[in-house]
Amino acid sequence: MNLTDRIRLWITIAGETLLRRRIDRFRLVLGGHIYFQTLSAAVQLDLFSLLDENGPMNEQQLCSKLGIAEQPCRILLLGLASIELIKRDASGVYRNTFVATKYFARSSNRNLINIVKWQHFINYKAMYHFHDALLSGQNVGLKEFPGEEPYLYGRLAHQPPLEKIFQDAMEEISRQASENFSRYVDLGSVKFLVDVGGGNASNIMTIARVNPHLKAAVFDSPTVCGIATANIARNGLSDRLSALQGDCFKDPFPSQADAILFCHFFTIWSLEENLTLLKRAFASLPPGGRAMIFNMMQDDDRSGPLSAALGSPYFLTLATGKGMLYSWAEYQELFHQAGFVNITTQKLPVDHGVIVGYKPA
Ligand SMILES: C[S@@+](CC[C@H](N)C(=O)[O-])C[C@H]1O[C@@H](n2cnc3c(N)ncnc32)[C@H](O)[C@@H]1O
Repeated sequence: MNLTDRIRLWITIAGETLLRRRIDRFRLVLGGHIYFQTLSAAVQLDLFSLLDENGPMNEQQLCSKLGIAEQPCRILLLGLASIELIKRDASGVYRNTFVATKYFARSSNRNLINIVKWQHFINYKAMYHFHDALLSGQNVGLKEFPGEEPYLYGRLAHQPPLEKIFQDAMEEISRQASENFSRYVDLGSVKFLVDVGGGNASNIMTIARVNPHLKAAVFDSPTVCGIATANIARNGLSDRLSALQGDCFKDPFPSQADAILFCHFFTIWSLEENLTLLKRAFASLPPGGRAMIFNMMQDDDRSGPLSAALGSPYFLTLATGKGMLYSWAEYQELFHQAGFVNITTQKLPVDHGVIVGYKPA
């Protein structure tokens, strides 16, 4: 190699070293499907729980416990080590990193195992159709699921195992969020709360535990109400909590509610549909009653946060073809248009926020 080539090579390597973080971030995006499948496979094999429960293991022990031949196993371990979910020491022994134990081992009460399964079994194939969804403005990813229903929720009702994966993931996403909601939103004067599209009732269970005076119900489809009722009974809360079957666009809102919550629900629909829902809530509430929107919010300057950017394509491509994570200002405007007053906003952890509006007394 002549001197010029040597200098050129040195400059190229130095440049790559300096830009390492940016280049790696770009590679993670370009290889996102591969990295996600690496993670998903490890979660399905329960590799992180295995290391967590049994302690560090060498390659042979690990592969034999996983029941995978040596070379495929090496490919998996290489992928996981490269994104720092496991670490291999000089003696060839693997252990979980802190992040892997916290987010992917069963022993952690903050694990994201159900969310990885939802991404893998439900969202992954659908997202292949994102480009078509952008062009058509429709949830064309739905063709991956048999049925005639226009939305993911109806189609999942044909496949109980998938519906369970979906509801388990929603519970995981909502768990931390509803703990924060219960802690920071004062429901002291509320008597009966209705959680529209309340899913398996995990939200109202968390809320009811912090507010022992409160009665509450989810308002959801018949199959989901079945899951919610069983869940409520299993947790010994049937005296205060219930599940009311209905379609919130067609059936009257439960009349006993003095507070109506839309939790992770307004992200599903168009702004027009959300306005219809707020107007229906307004009509059913008593004077002084309140409606609340609680979900992740988009910044008003439309440049983030990351959670809003990652969540929105799912609503377009798969869930309904209509929703996204809207901004604070857009939601506030809907409250005004529906007739609510004393509208307040509260920022909460994990990019969440709550907006409350009252029906004039
Ligand atoms: C994104 S999940 C949110 C679940 C729950 N609120 C949470 O935060 O985890 C949407 C829920 O809305 C329900 N849903 C969808 N369309 C509905 C409708 N028209 N009427 C009532 N519930 C509906 C679905 O069955 C599902 O449980």
